Amino acid sequence: MQYFIDSANIPAIDAICRSFPITGVTTNPSIICKEKEDLKKILTGIRNVITQKRLLQVQAVAKTAEGILAEARAVRLLVGDPLAIKVPVSREGLRAIPMLKNEGFLVTATAIFSPQQAMLCACSGADYVAPYINRFDSICGDGEQLVHAIVNLFDASNIDCKILGASFKNILQVESIMEAGAQSVTIAPELFDGIVSHPMTDLSLETFDRHWNEVYGGASIDTLLNA
Ligand code: E4P
Repeated sequence: MQYFIDSANIPAIDAICRSFPITGVTTNPSIICKEKEDLKKILTGIRNVITQKRLLQVQAVAKTAEGILAEARAVRLLVGDPLAIKVPVSREGLRAIPMLKNEGFLVTATAIFSPQQAMLCACSGADYVAPYINRFDSICGDGEQLVHAIVNLFDASNIDCKILGASFKNILQVESIMEAGAQSVTIAPELFDGIVSHPMTDLSLETFDRHWNEVYGGASIDTLLNA
């Protein structure tokens, strides 16, 4: 499983990268605009935090394939690799995917809401397809079912393209999409606490601490062993 952070907030990315097994960072125009900062500063800031060890995903805003390619080149010049260009699914997006692949970019086809969109993008050469789970759930769609359908289509055609579950608003959505067969997920910073913690874990630790304190007065193991 690959975990991405869905954010352009540098302190949040830094804090999460220090604890979690993070493959990279995904952004979209709204996420970038939330920071109200100079674009160069945001992108170089993210790269400095995640270094060249993690994948940065930046979404193109151009509406033509040539425009998308020009944006991809400019982003690469600024932040280097590893870099994935997120391309919203459309006729021009489909045209852009092989052009980007030809220049060695990783490509995430984004804003996916149907299995056919996913299939077309994968056949065009996308490395990832990003179905928007909460946006689909919230119009009475079924994000989990969508991922199941994409998995089945990809399996049937032996397609090597990862599903990047995106647009999550709760932990249940994340879990159900993983169970449905997504190989990667991108999660907003505010959901990371929810995926690592559990009330029963907290309760169990409280009990362990109480017992340890009663017998050893809270001393650490190394203190006790080195005494
Ligand atoms: C990520 O790649 C998507 O752009 C993002 O997850 C969309 O999330 P939202 O629906 O919360 O805006």
